[in-house]
Amino acid sequence: MPGSDELQKRRAAAVSRGVSSLIGSYVDHASGGTLTDVDGREWIDFGSGIAVTSVGNANPRVVEAVRAQVQRFTHTCFMVAPYESYVAVCEQLNALTPGEHDKRSALFNSGAEAVENAVKIARHATGRPAIVVFDHAYHGRTNLTMALTAKNMPYKHRFGPFAGEIYRVPMSYPLRDGGLDGASAAARALNLVEKQVGAENVAALLIEPIQGEGGFVVPAPGFLPALADWARAAGALFIADEIQTGFCRTGSWFACEHESVVPDLVTTAKGIAGGLPLAGVTGRTDVMDAVHPGGLGGTYGGNPVACAAALAAIETMRELDLAAAARRIEAVMVPRLRDLAQRHPAIGDVRGRGAMLAIELVSPGTTSAAGGPAPDAGATQAVANACHEAGLLVLTCGTYGNVMRFLPPLVITEDQLGRGLDILEDAFHKA
Ligand SMILES: Cc1ncc(COP(=O)(O)O)c(C=O)c1O
Repeated sequence: MPGSDELQKRRAAAVSRGVSSLIGSYVDHASGGTLTDVDGREWIDFGSGIAVTSVGNANPRVVEAVRAQVQRFTHTCFMVAPYESYVAVCEQLNALTPGEHDKRSALFNSGAEAVENAVKIARHATGRPAIVVFDHAYHGRTNLTMALTAKNMPYKHRFGPFAGEIYRVPMSYPLRDGGLDGASAAARALNLVEKQVGAENVAALLIEPIQGEGGFVVPAPGFLPALADWARAAGALFIADEIQTGFCRTGSWFACEHESVVPDLVTTAKGIAGGLPLAGVTGRTDVMDAVHPGGLGGTYGGNPVACAAALAAIETMRELDLAAAARRIEAVMVPRLRDLAQRHPAIGDVRGRGAMLAIELVSPGTTSAAGGPAPDAGATQAVANACHEAGLLVLTCGTYGNVMRFLPPLVITEDQLGRGLDILEDAFHKA
């Protein structure tokens, strides 16, 4: 096997520079909480491939399910010749997503594709055009989802023109909106919707219950329930994009549960299938079934290998109670992050839920056009680089590039978690 240096050279000659990587090392194998590169170097994984490998890499149950499925058949296209595992994944989604009402699901390949389909379904079911999204939102990189995503660089820059009938309103962002309470933040957003869009034109409000790429922004309590109530009264749909937050990541199956919010539609992907590409849209039967037969689909959506992996991953989450594991990770990490923040005033906020946690780095004592203290993207990058040098994979995010986010696999061991936090602390001392 060639080493990482040689692979970097081959990559430069073969792969578009538009696709970048966090580190220059190439993976040879990975397990529950670690990645090992082709030169034998090990990394503690605080990223899970961006919130995907919640059950760990090479999870034995997922490996066995995939192996068995590959031997039986790899693809028929569900739209041509259906198979049981697709139905079984939909049954699981219908049972696990919030709300006891009758539901239906449809499967796709990626998060962006699920969001696109949720928008299609919402427009079709309501007969209305407008989709309302929020500041700092991230919903994907296809044309429609770029329009839904807030941040220009790197996601949208010079990739337009974008799809129409998308309206953006302010998010609840306690660090940066003066600590506006949830109801007031919702009223601020919905007043704009009523005045600038018109409630009767709104097909759906689309929101991540905790924002992912936008900075792990946790809205003030009451914000999500107020949005959901408004949507119900307006005859619009409330779509929860649980692509990053779903499947035990935040300490419950879905993040909406923390505030007892029941969405009309839920999008899922990432953690659903132990690393295989699979995504879903799940929702009220009357909404999902409003679409004519043949109106939804795609060649690979709900591929049988991905479905087998999903059933194994979901079984693992249930058996190991990975929602409780996420809460345990929070219980270990948050006190240490708070302690670190005491010693390093550049940490302006510690936030998140379960195993979806973040620190926001700022210039202490300043105020800025971003609202609240000035974001410090440089310090964030320096600490992240020091972590990578020392063998800890951490991701950054945020509209201002100043948020370090922590998404360890939910099966990470306490020892790995502790060692990762030691590296993070050292990186703060050195950076
Ligand atoms: C909340 C959310 N929605 C949608 C997406 C897009 O998913 P994908 O990258 O699978 O297209 C992501 C990916 O990060 C996400 O975090």
